[in-house]
Amino acid sequence: MVKRILTGMRTTGRLHLGHYVGALENWLKLQPDYDCYFLLADVQALTTHFDRVASLEDSVRQVVIDWLSVGLDPVKSSFVLQSAVIEYFELTAYFSFLANMGELEGNPTLKEEINALGMSKVNAGFMMYPISQAADILLFSPIPPSPGDELLIPVGQDQLPHIELTSKLARRFNKLYGNTFILPKAKLSEVPRLTDLFGDKKMGKSYGNAIFLSDDPLAVKDKIKAGITDPNKARRGDPGNPDICPIFSYHKIFRNHGADDIAIGCRSGKLPCVECKGVLAQAVNEKLDPFRDKRVRIEANPKIIGDVIATGTERARLIGRETINCVRHYMHLDYPSLSLNEISSTE
Ligand code: TRP
Repeated sequence: MVKRILTGMRTTGRLHLGHYVGALENWLKLQPDYDCYFLLADVQALTTHFDRVASLEDSVRQVVIDWLSVGLDPVKSSFVLQSAVIEYFELTAYFSFLANMGELEGNPTLKEEINALGMSKVNAGFMMYPISQAADILLFSPIPPSPGDELLIPVGQDQLPHIELTSKLARRFNKLYGNTFILPKAKLSEVPRLTDLFGDKKMGKSYGNAIFLSDDPLAVKDKIKAGITDPNKARRGDPGNPDICPIFSYHKIFRNHGADDIAIGCRSGKLPCVECKGVLAQAVNEKLDPFRDKRVRIEANPKIIGDVIATGTERARLIGRETINCVRHYMHLDYPSLSLNEISSTE
């Protein structure tokens, strides 16, 4: 029985707390029980970074350091560089004929991204990326599928439309060409979306409000200090309403039990916002401290970064080749009567 995980992140920069609570924490929990493939989605990063390609190298490096520093284990799990798995480009091409333009145009996550990024022109690669994400996922479908096999995709809520499309494409492929792929299952993280410290937007680098996993303690303190609280609590001593305070939502995530006392202090007016923020900053810093230590050790031995990518990507390619061979066979692209064995191999 194969129990596999495939998930990934675009390599567009350092990771922040939103990535941690929305994804990495979930991955860490699942890591012991699954054969995990964590994708460094550098090709998908081109959707927005095609004109800034030189920046991708440092982004890949930073994401790998962040993954290692939070405790993803490159021996047990595989870190996979998307652009180096050429099989994935091939599968994307085959899947592109099974998806309809309407399905891409109606994809709610695509629409949201186009709005959030204020994109005036949308390139074809961007519109296509849900198809390539289906290829990312199904390349890792166990071949041949047997009962009990699992392909789990730990993601945030926003990725659900992509997983749905992936299932549709798998079903269409199986129906047309024969039973090749199993259906992937999404596994949602507990904290679906971390809002920023100003309470309205998703925490993200593009908004300039993110607390990075690699931030030093002082930067964390300053960012939390700048966050807004209940706007109706005008003066020190006024009672506040934690339910509408962005800082309090962080207390709930990072200090689970301690949050109750904060709520009581806030409602009574006895707990000044500055103090409340100080308590939060300390909790966040305690969480980040071990990650910072690990980061220092990795940065002292940077060769490990390339090594873990090479090892993980090679493991992924073995699986990818098997899948592609099977896909070509089922799609009758191996043309057995023409004896094309030599050229039809991807090696
Ligand atoms: N779309 C994901 C993101 O924006 C990244 C990603 C690429 C992914 N390929 C994937 C996630 C496959 C899960 C499975 O972060």
